[in-house]
Amino acid sequence: MPEAKIAPSILAGDFANLAHECTRMMKAGSDWLHIDIMDGHFVPNLTIGAPVVTCIRGALPKGDSFFDCHMMVSNPEQWVEDFAQAGGDQYCFHYEATTNHEALIDKIHSLGMRAGVAIKPGTPVEAVFDLAPIVDMILVMTVEPGFGGQKFRKECMPKVEILRSKFPELDIEVDGGLGPDTIDIAAEAGANVIVAGTSVFKANDPSEVIALLRKTVEANQKK
Ligand code: DX5
Ligand code: ZN
Repeated sequence: MPEAKIAPSILAGDFANLAHECTRMMKAGSDWLHIDIMDGHFVPNLTIGAPVVTCIRGALPKGDSFFDCHMMVSNPEQWVEDFAQAGGDQYCFHYEATTNHEALIDKIHSLGMRAGVAIKPGTPVEAVFDLAPIVDMILVMTVEPGFGGQKFRKECMPKVEILRSKFPELDIEVDGGLGPDTIDIAAEAGANVIVAGTSVFKANDPSEVIALLRKTVEANQKK
Protein backbone atom coordinates (compact mmCIF):
# COMPACT_ATOMS: atom_id res chain seq x y z
CA MET A 1 0.00 0.00 0.00
CA PRO A 2 1.32 3.48 -0.82
CA GLU A 3 2.73 5.57 2.00
CA ALA A 4 0.70 7.81 4.29
CA LYS A 5 0.58 11.44 3.23
CA ILE A 6 -0.96 14.20 5.29
CA ALA A 7 -2.16 17.20 3.30
CA PRO A 8 -3.35 20.23 5.28
CA SER A 9 -5.97 22.21 3.36
CA ILE A 10 -4.86 25.83 3.29
CA LEU A 11 -8.51 26.82 2.88
CA ALA A 12 -8.61 26.78 6.69
CA GLY A 13 -5.53 29.01 6.94
CA ASP A 14 -5.17 32.78 7.15
CA PHE A 15 -5.47 33.98 3.55
CA ALA A 16 -3.71 37.24 4.42
CA ASN A 17 -0.59 35.21 5.21
CA LEU A 18 -0.73 32.24 2.89
CA ALA A 19 3.00 31.66 2.47
CA HIS A 20 3.47 31.81 6.22
CA GLU A 21 0.61 29.34 6.71
CA CYS A 22 2.17 26.94 4.19
CA THR A 23 5.54 27.17 5.92
CA ARG A 24 3.87 26.61 9.28
CA MET A 25 2.29 23.38 7.99
CA MET A 26 5.49 22.14 6.40
CA LYS A 27 7.37 22.72 9.65
CA ALA A 28 4.59 20.85 11.46
CA GLY A 29 5.35 17.76 9.34
CA SER A 30 2.88 17.90 6.46
CA ASP A 31 3.72 15.88 3.35
CA TRP A 32 1.62 17.81 0.85
CA LEU A 33 -0.20 21.15 0.78
CA HIS A 34 -3.80 20.79 -0.37
CA ILE A 35 -4.96 23.83 -2.35
CA ASP A 36 -8.71 24.18 -2.90
CA ILE A 37 -9.61 25.91 -6.14
CA MET A 38 -13.30 26.89 -6.40
CA ASP A 39 -14.87 28.75 -9.30
CA GLY A 40 -18.27 29.76 -7.93
CA HIS A 41 -19.88 27.61 -10.62
CA PHE A 42 -19.00 23.96 -10.01
CA VAL A 43 -19.35 24.76 -6.30
CA PRO A 44 -21.14 27.69 -4.62
CA ASN A 45 -17.94 29.34 -3.37
CA LEU A 46 -14.91 31.18 -4.73
CA THR A 47 -11.32 30.85 -3.61
CA ILE A 48 -8.14 31.43 -5.57
CA GLY A 49 -6.70 30.86 -9.04
CA ALA A 50 -3.32 30.22 -10.61
CA PRO A 51 -1.90 33.73 -10.02
CA VAL A 52 -2.14 33.24 -6.26
CA VAL A 53 -0.63 29.74 -6.51
CA THR A 54 2.27 31.24 -8.49
CA CYS A 55 2.87 33.74 -5.68
CA ILE A 56 2.80 31.09 -2.96
CA ARG A 57 5.19 28.92 -4.97
CA GLY A 58 7.55 31.86 -5.35
CA ALA A 59 7.49 32.58 -1.64
CA LEU A 60 8.39 29.03 -0.54
CA PRO A 61 11.78 27.33 -0.69
CA LYS A 62 12.27 25.56 -4.03
CA GLY A 63 11.46 21.85 -4.25
CA ASP A 64 10.30 21.78 -0.69
CA SER A 65 6.55 21.47 -1.03
CA PHE A 66 4.09 19.40 -3.03
CA PHE A 67 1.08 21.35 -4.28
CA ASP A 68 -2.00 19.10 -4.39
CA CYS A 69 -4.45 21.22 -6.41
CA HIS A 70 -8.07 20.22 -5.87
CA MET A 71 -9.91 21.71 -8.83
CA MET A 72 -13.54 22.28 -7.90
CA VAL A 73 -14.20 23.92 -11.24
CA SER A 74 -16.37 23.49 -14.30
CA ASN A 75 -14.40 23.01 -17.49
CA PRO A 76 -11.25 21.71 -15.76
CA GLU A 77 -9.53 21.51 -19.18
CA GLN A 78 -9.25 25.29 -19.11
CA TRP A 79 -6.72 25.61 -16.30
CA VAL A 80 -4.22 22.80 -16.80
CA GLU A 81 -1.49 24.93 -18.44
CA ASP A 82 -1.92 27.72 -15.91
CA PHE A 83 -1.54 25.38 -12.94
CA ALA A 84 1.43 23.58 -14.47
CA GLN A 85 3.05 26.97 -14.97
CA ALA A 86 2.12 28.07 -11.45
CA GLY A 87 4.01 25.13 -9.94
CA GLY A 88 1.20 22.67 -9.29
CA ASP A 89 2.44 19.13 -8.66
CA GLN A 90 -0.90 17.37 -8.89
CA TYR A 91 -4.04 18.45 -10.75
CA CYS A 92 -7.07 16.72 -9.29
CA PHE A 93 -10.21 17.43 -11.30
CA HIS A 94 -13.77 16.38 -10.56
CA TYR A 95 -15.19 13.42 -12.45
CA GLU A 96 -18.56 15.24 -12.62
CA ALA A 97 -17.07 18.32 -14.28
CA THR A 98 -16.12 16.82 -17.64
CA THR A 99 -16.94 14.03 -20.06
CA ASN A 100 -13.59 13.49 -21.76
CA HIS A 101 -11.66 12.17 -18.77
CA GLU A 102 -8.91 10.31 -20.62
CA ALA A 103 -7.94 13.29 -22.76
CA LEU A 104 -7.77 15.52 -19.70
CA ILE A 105 -5.59 13.02 -17.85
CA ASP A 106 -3.23 12.87 -20.86
CA LYS A 107 -3.04 16.65 -20.95
CA ILE A 108 -2.20 16.85 -17.24
CA HIS A 109 0.52 14.22 -17.60
CA SER A 110 1.94 15.82 -20.72
CA LEU A 111 2.49 19.01 -18.73
CA GLY A 112 4.42 17.15 -16.05
CA MET A 113 1.85 16.99 -13.27
CA ARG A 114 0.33 14.03 -11.50
CA ALA A 115 -3.33 13.52 -12.34
CA GLY A 116 -6.06 12.93 -9.79
CA VAL A 117 -9.78 12.42 -10.17
CA ALA A 118 -12.28 13.35 -7.44
CA ILE A 119 -15.81 12.06 -6.85
CA LYS A 120 -18.52 13.84 -4.89
CA PRO A 121 -20.49 11.95 -2.21
CA GLY A 122 -23.33 11.24 -4.64
CA THR A 123 -21.14 9.83 -7.42
CA PRO A 124 -20.86 6.04 -7.47
CA VAL A 125 -17.39 4.58 -7.17
CA GLU A 126 -17.89 2.47 -10.30
CA ALA A 127 -17.59 5.70 -12.31
CA VAL A 128 -13.82 5.78 -11.77
CA PHE A 129 -12.94 2.08 -12.12
CA ASP A 130 -11.73 2.52 -15.70
CA LEU A 131 -9.76 5.63 -14.83
CA ALA A 132 -7.98 4.17 -11.78
CA PRO A 133 -5.20 2.51 -13.82
CA ILE A 134 -4.35 5.78 -15.60
CA VAL A 135 -4.52 8.28 -12.74
CA ASP A 136 -2.10 8.81 -9.87
CA MET A 137 -4.77 9.35 -7.24
CA ILE A 138 -8.49 9.09 -6.60
CA LEU A 139 -10.08 11.54 -4.20
CA VAL A 140 -13.20 10.30 -2.43
CA MET A 141 -14.93 13.41 -1.09
CA THR A 142 -16.29 12.95 2.42
CA VAL A 143 -18.30 16.18 2.32
CA GLU A 144 -20.13 18.02 -0.45
CA PRO A 145 -17.34 20.14 -2.01
CA GLY A 146 -17.47 23.90 -1.48
CA PHE A 147 -16.77 24.66 2.15
CA GLY A 148 -14.39 23.71 4.94
CA GLY A 149 -15.55 22.79 8.41
CA GLN A 150 -18.32 20.36 7.44
CA LYS A 151 -19.17 17.05 9.07
CA PHE A 152 -17.39 13.92 7.82
CA ARG A 153 -19.75 11.58 5.93
CA LYS A 154 -18.87 8.07 6.90
CA GLU A 155 -21.31 6.62 4.38
CA CYS A 156 -18.62 7.40 1.77
CA MET A 157 -16.24 4.84 3.29
CA PRO A 158 -17.48 1.80 1.34
CA LYS A 159 -16.20 3.58 -1.78
CA VAL A 160 -12.73 3.77 -0.24
CA GLU A 161 -12.88 0.11 0.79
CA ILE A 162 -13.83 -1.00 -2.70
CA LEU A 163 -11.10 1.10 -4.33
CA ARG A 164 -8.47 -0.13 -1.90
CA SER A 165 -9.32 -3.76 -2.50
CA LYS A 166 -9.32 -3.35 -6.29
CA PHE A 167 -6.29 -1.04 -6.51
CA PRO A 168 -3.88 -1.83 -3.65
CA GLU A 169 -1.11 0.47 -4.93
CA LEU A 170 -3.24 3.52 -5.71
CA ASP A 171 -3.09 6.76 -3.72
CA ILE A 172 -6.58 7.18 -2.26
CA GLU A 173 -7.33 10.56 -0.74
CA VAL A 174 -10.18 11.56 1.54
CA ASP A 175 -11.21 15.18 2.00
CA GLY A 176 -13.73 16.79 4.32
CA GLY A 177 -14.22 16.62 8.06
CA LEU A 178 -11.05 14.62 8.74
CA GLY A 179 -9.35 14.93 12.12
CA PRO A 180 -8.57 12.94 15.26
CA ASP A 181 -12.25 11.96 15.68
CA THR A 182 -12.72 10.57 12.17
CA ILE A 183 -9.31 9.30 11.10
CA ASP A 184 -9.83 5.77 12.46
CA ILE A 185 -12.68 4.95 10.14
CA ALA A 186 -10.98 6.51 7.09
CA ALA A 187 -7.68 4.74 7.75
CA GLU A 188 -9.47 1.45 8.35
CA ALA A 189 -11.25 1.79 5.01
CA GLY A 190 -7.86 2.11 3.31
CA ALA A 191 -7.33 5.83 2.67
CA ASN A 192 -3.66 6.83 2.66
CA VAL A 193 -3.79 10.53 1.69
CA ILE A 194 -5.54 12.56 4.35
CA VAL A 195 -6.68 16.13 3.74
CA ALA A 196 -7.35 18.07 6.91
CA GLY A 197 -8.27 21.74 7.13
CA THR A 198 -9.99 22.82 10.28
CA SER A 199 -8.63 20.06 12.52
CA VAL A 200 -5.00 20.94 11.72
CA PHE A 201 -5.11 24.71 11.27
CA LYS A 202 -7.20 25.40 14.34
CA ALA A 203 -5.23 23.04 16.59
CA ASN A 204 -3.03 24.43 19.34
CA ASP A 205 -0.29 22.14 18.07
CA PRO A 206 -0.77 21.21 14.39
CA SER A 207 2.28 18.92 14.50
CA GLU A 208 0.56 16.72 17.07
CA VAL A 209 -2.54 16.34 14.89
CA ILE A 210 -0.49 15.65 11.76
CA ALA A 211 1.53 13.00 13.62
CA LEU A 212 -1.63 11.35 14.94
CA LEU A 213 -3.22 11.23 11.48
CA ARG A 214 -0.07 9.67 10.02
CA LYS A 215 0.32 7.18 12.86
CA THR A 216 -3.27 6.01 12.44
CA VAL A 217 -2.91 5.45 8.68
CA GLU A 218 0.37 3.58 9.19
CA ALA A 219 -1.05 1.41 11.98
CA ASN A 220 -3.94 0.34 9.74
CA GLN A 221 -1.59 -0.45 6.88
CA LYS A 222 0.26 -2.94 9.11
CA LYS A 223 -2.92 -4.84 9.99
C1 DX5 B 1 -14.06 21.23 0.73
C2 DX5 B 1 -12.59 21.19 0.47
C3 DX5 B 1 -11.77 20.68 1.59
C4 DX5 B 1 -11.86 21.47 2.87
C5 DX5 B 1 -11.57 20.54 4.00
O1 DX5 B 1 -14.73 21.51 -0.44
O2 DX5 B 1 -12.31 20.38 -0.65
O3 DX5 B 1 -10.41 20.52 1.20
O4 DX5 B 1 -10.99 22.55 2.93
O5 DX5 B 1 -11.74 21.24 5.18
P1 DX5 B 1 -12.11 20.52 6.55
O6 DX5 B 1 -10.95 19.60 6.88
O7 DX5 B 1 -12.25 21.65 7.49
O8 DX5 B 1 -13.37 19.75 6.32
ZN1 ZN C 1 -10.20 19.86 -1.06
